[in-house]
Amino acid sequence: QSRRVMPEAPTGTWDMMRADAMACTRCDLHAQATQAVLGEGPEDAPLMIVGEQPGDHEDLTGRPFIGPAGQVLDRALAQAGLDRGRIYLTNAVKHFKFVPRGKRRIHQRPNTAEVSHCRWWLKQEIELVQPRLIVAMGASAVLGLTGQPVKMTDVRGHVVAGVPPILPTWHPSYLLRLPDATAAKAETANFTRDLALAAEFIA
Ligand code: URA
Repeated sequence: QSRRVMPEAPTGTWDMMRADAMACTRCDLHAQATQAVLGEGPEDAPLMIVGEQPGDHEDLTGRPFIGPAGQVLDRALAQAGLDRGRIYLTNAVKHFKFVPRGKRRIHQRPNTAEVSHCRWWLKQEIELVQPRLIVAMGASAVLGLTGQPVKMTDVRGHVVAGVPPILPTWHPSYLLRLPDATAAKAETANFTRDLALAAEFIA
């Protein structure tokens, strides 16, 4: 089986980056996934939003945030006055990590090494888009963006200065998993408030 040699330096253009990412073998996740899912949105978007990794729907279609987590995100974006069409949406990890269970594919959190290998692509996306702000949804996104493991309760809702600045917030799947309805409502409101802060930041 031939393994394509990955480039030693960033390729510098969208077309080349997309082609290289589709053939990525920097970690083992490519072996099981259907395809690499790169970001989607305007190439000069003022706002970038980063999630964890594609889920089942995203893996099959090649588009980020179109499954249940994407629906939570879309609702919150609308409430925060943000137009999804003006945002570059991407993930810290480009391949879906899962374990098969019967006919289902159960999401597995990417480990530190997988997130770290995939920073190669995230950095190139940031360099090409040059957003004014990046919203990091969940700890894997913060890890991919900063290289630092964080506790989300410590960092959520506060802009971290940098070029570009980063605003950590909840991951929409976390909101879907909260068992307590009152907590889910409160944290969804916080998520929406963070997105509204992002809207103000780029206004
Ligand atoms: N969860 C993510 O983090 N990203 C997606 O694209 C879908 C679900």
